[in-house]
Amino acid sequence: MLQIGRKGHDYTTFGIKKHSALDKLFFSMHNACMSQKAQPIYTSGSTLFVRSYAKINLTLDVLGRRADGYHELATVMQTIDLYDTICLTVTDEPGVRVVSTRPELNGDDNLAARAAQALRQRLTLPQGVGIELDKRIPVAAGLGGGSSNAAAVLLALRHWWQLPLTPPDLLAIAASLGSDVPFFLTGGLALCEGRGEHVTPLAPHWPYAMRWLLLLKPTISVSTAAVFRSLPADDYTDGTYSRAVGAALQTKRVPQLKDFHNGLERGVLERYPEVAQAREDLLKAGAAFVRLSGSGPTLFAPFSELASATRVRLRLHEKGYETYLTRAISPHVENIHFF
Ligand code: C5P
Repeated sequence: MLQIGRKGHDYTTFGIKKHSALDKLFFSMHNACMSQKAQPIYTSGSTLFVRSYAKINLTLDVLGRRADGYHELATVMQTIDLYDTICLTVTDEPGVRVVSTRPELNGDDNLAARAAQALRQRLTLPQGVGIELDKRIPVAAGLGGGSSNAAAVLLALRHWWQLPLTPPDLLAIAASLGSDVPFFLTGGLALCEGRGEHVTPLAPHWPYAMRWLLLLKPTISVSTAAVFRSLPADDYTDGTYSRAVGAALQTKRVPQLKDFHNGLERGVLERYPEVAQAREDLLKAGAAFVRLSGSGPTLFAPFSELASATRVRLRLHEKGYETYLTRAISPHVENIHFF
């Protein structure tokens, strides 16, 4: 049994121990980016903050339905600079407890809690975990918030507690939690295939024309399972769109707009008039191109100039829409902050 406790604990067994090469690397990278005045403060070593980023799907090909009920996918995903903040603490009570700024997420079925619980069970860890979750990513919105939270907890606890988990171990745990969770273990730009768990990172090249991403979140929530369930075979594609966009970005070419295909979009626009209306309003407000992210309902529109994105955003605010102005990012180890 791997013992990592707080009582009578030698804190050198946490990720902040002085002798770990990984931690030295982490701290030197972290400190290198901070001014003298902004050095991190280390107190008891019992709290860890981590950012958990959202994603958009640039493409989503649904290849067909599998025998296990899931669908075979090819999708190009990118992490964006819209994040939840997660604070992890070690607790003396066994078990995992989540407290979120969205109280409806405070149960055991929260994916972040299930991630922590999966690690505790896998490694027979006696100590409990407290998770405080400051939610900014809209929930059930096609932005991968829950999956991202789960991956962030897996990565943070492994790093913090120096858990003996190989990348394949971590990938298997991530895939057991949800189809999008493996993507968030690496994040950045990636082609995801299979159920979503076969992740091929792509070179982080991002077109100038898409420097700014304006997201519009319609007020309704959409069930991913319901969207997939009602998807007609006519909307299946063979992965061409995702491969084309992946190959273009990988070779620093600008993908063709026609290849930014989402096989779930037609069905979602048909079944949810609010999403179709929001799409119309985004186009009328001045967006040149609008696409659904994942199973929605969030829509995104790329812009090359901040001024144009802001103009469109203001018009949408006047209509009462919830919007987010964001950009593509590649998260790295600096997201973890020990206190
Ligand atoms: O894997 P996850 O729990 O996030 O998926 C939510 C639902 O979306 C699944 O229950 C399934 O109905 C559907 N889904 C699918 N094929 C995928 C991913 C998700 O049918 N590749």
